[in-house]
Amino acid sequence: MDEISRIVNPEKLENEEFDNEKSLRPANLREFIGQKKITENLNVFIKSAKLRGEPLDHVLLAGPPGLGKTTLAYIVSNELGVNLKVTSAPVIDKTGDLASILTGLEEKDVLFIDEIHRLSPALEEVLYPAMEDRAIDIIIGQGVGAKSIKINLAPFTLIGATTRTGLLTSALRDRFGIPLRLNYYTPDELQVIAMRSSKILGCNITEEAALEIARRSRRTPRIVNRILKRVADFSIVRKKEKIDIDITRYALEKLDIDNLGLDEMDRKILSIIINNYNGGPVGIKTIAISIGEEIDTLEDYYEPFLVQIGMLKRTPRGRVATANAYGHLGMDYNNNINEDQTSLF
Ligand SMILES: Nc1ncnc2c1ncn2[C@@H]1O[C@H](COP(=O)(O)OP(=O)(O)OP(=O)(O)O)[C@@H](O)[C@H]1O
Ligand SMILES: [Mg+2]
Repeated sequence: MDEISRIVNPEKLENEEFDNEKSLRPANLREFIGQKKITENLNVFIKSAKLRGEPLDHVLLAGPPGLGKTTLAYIVSNELGVNLKVTSAPVIDKTGDLASILTGLEEKDVLFIDEIHRLSPALEEVLYPAMEDRAIDIIIGQGVGAKSIKINLAPFTLIGATTRTGLLTSALRDRFGIPLRLNYYTPDELQVIAMRSSKILGCNITEEAALEIARRSRRTPRIVNRILKRVADFSIVRKKEKIDIDITRYALEKLDIDNLGLDEMDRKILSIIINNYNGGPVGIKTIAISIGEEIDTLEDYYEPFLVQIGMLKRTPRGRVATANAYGHLGMDYNNNINEDQTSLF
């Protein structure tokens, strides 16, 4: 495999999770459940681009992990009927790499750059004229003899995905003509996803069981699919013909997923803030060290959901556990001076 194919399409190198996810991934806008506003608008923009015979404007997909950003990138290229090249910001380290990817694009190709907030400033500089004028400037030679040469690119569409819009420079954000923000899903939508996935996986499930999985999946399709597969394991071993509510509840208990869909790590985060830091405010770094998790994982994955369900608040001085969090962990909010903690001193 040559250098550029390592950088473009790195997903091909991934393990079987990708193939697995691929089979559950909706292939077109009609199969994509939820996010109605986004899919309806995209449908219009795609149709218009096709009628005009032009590439689609650049698309930015933002939102927490597992909500369907990569899926939508595949769907958009599919609906446009064009080629998709996939890459991810962390694997591009030289401006030359990005220049080769861009000059390798053919007319109307879609280039998908995942985790686009992690592009270095130097790489962003290459991207600006590429997005705006469909050209890049390449410096040839060194010192006084160095020359800048403009290379025109084929008209293409960039789709960028990010879990963290806040980390994107406004210069980059403003160059996307179609900025889209994916929201958490409703339990009803996730129930439909659970029913659809179980059909694809060849397992029967009751509507009630599908709703239970939906309710406990952090409002996230990827987690619906993950939990569904594990519940199916329990069901198969118990020789059940259908995944019903009983086996679902039993499996969820074994998986340590509580009635709100929080897992062991979520509860650990909340209980550390409450028990060790008196409910907060406490800095994200301190929390990360206390629970032995990366700050990025905390900020990308755990925190947005805990904030969304009103368990955690972000304040300028740090993170604070809410009355809901105390209630959920069975602790007294009014008596939030932790005695075990104070008696240590
Ligand atoms: N609207 C949807 N309908 C049905 N299934 C979906 C939907 N959105 C996502 N999925 C399922 O969830 C899985 C995860 O989605 P995807 O990989 O697109 O998330 P993502 O937003 O790119 O996440 P990350 O930020 O981690 O890259 C997909 O494999 C797909 O099976
Ligand atoms: Mg993705």
